[in-house]
Amino acid sequence: MTHVVVLGSANMDLVVRVARAPRHGETVTGREFRTAPGGKGANQAIAAARCGATVSMIGAVGDDGFGTRLRSALEHSGVDTDLLRTVEGRSGTAHIVVDDDGGNAIVVIPGANGTVDHLVPGDEGLIATADVLLLQLEIPLAAVVAGARAARAHGVRTVLTPSPARPLPPELLGAVDLLVANESEALALTGRADPVDAAHDLLADVPEVVVTLGSAGSFHLRRDAEPLAVAAPRVTAVDTTGAGDTFVGALAVALAEGRPVQDALRWAAAAAALCVQREGASASMPYRSEIDTRFTS
Ligand code: RIB
Repeated sequence: MTHVVVLGSANMDLVVRVARAPRHGETVTGREFRTAPGGKGANQAIAAARCGATVSMIGAVGDDGFGTRLRSALEHSGVDTDLLRTVEGRSGTAHIVVDDDGGNAIVVIPGANGTVDHLVPGDEGLIATADVLLLQLEIPLAAVVAGARAARAHGVRTVLTPSPARPLPPELLGAVDLLVANESEALALTGRADPVDAAHDLLADVPEVVVTLGSAGSFHLRRDAEPLAVAAPRVTAVDTTGAGDTFVGALAVALAEGRPVQDALRWAAAAAALCVQREGASASMPYRSEIDTRFTS
């Protein structure tokens, strides 16, 4: 069975639903408020676990009620949390506005995620046992770099989601095997206006790049292969929160299982399409059997 290790964040998502997001200086009345487990690291861990992988999560939650819920959400999906630390203080939170088109705007307060700034004993040993290490940028960059380097030292494939987008140091890019960015992240990282140009620029730094384009699908570039474009299934989005994380978790599992890239991209797109049709981040992530059904229909 594929073993995925995730080094990253766990957040409690504090979600409001509104007809449309407020403009600068404007107040709008929302419809609903709810809390739900999220965080890009935890989301990717749950997505990969529901795809059938054995998954372990390295990170931190606070010693508050949110921390207890975040840990149990991971465990409920079968994620091993032995190296998920509980630290003094608040868990990470994400303040999310979801509009009637299913689109969102997110402010993240790192909380306990901010304490994950280095690897501690046991982390590298766990990474060494993985088939693939999933990284994002909601924990301090120093730990992301250390994780990528540890993976490289042990021959473990690394997949980086550069979100929230920020400049990436060469020592990180040099240890990444696959970078999966959405369009806005790809443009922000390169200063380009076109996602294809941005992906080509990124390919100078990493050997393989996927750019996701929401309902327009995704494309894949690798230095030694022809570019590939894959369409996304047509669905009506209710909430796109966590769709990118679902895509990455599913893609990582499919590639680690040795599926051809085009097949893996289509399978990941099917997973993301299922996710956007339901509310919440990790709560909306599909199980392998559902993805298989959507993939073949
Ligand atoms: O990618 C979606 C996630 O981003 C949300 O669950 C939220 O926690 C933020 O980290």
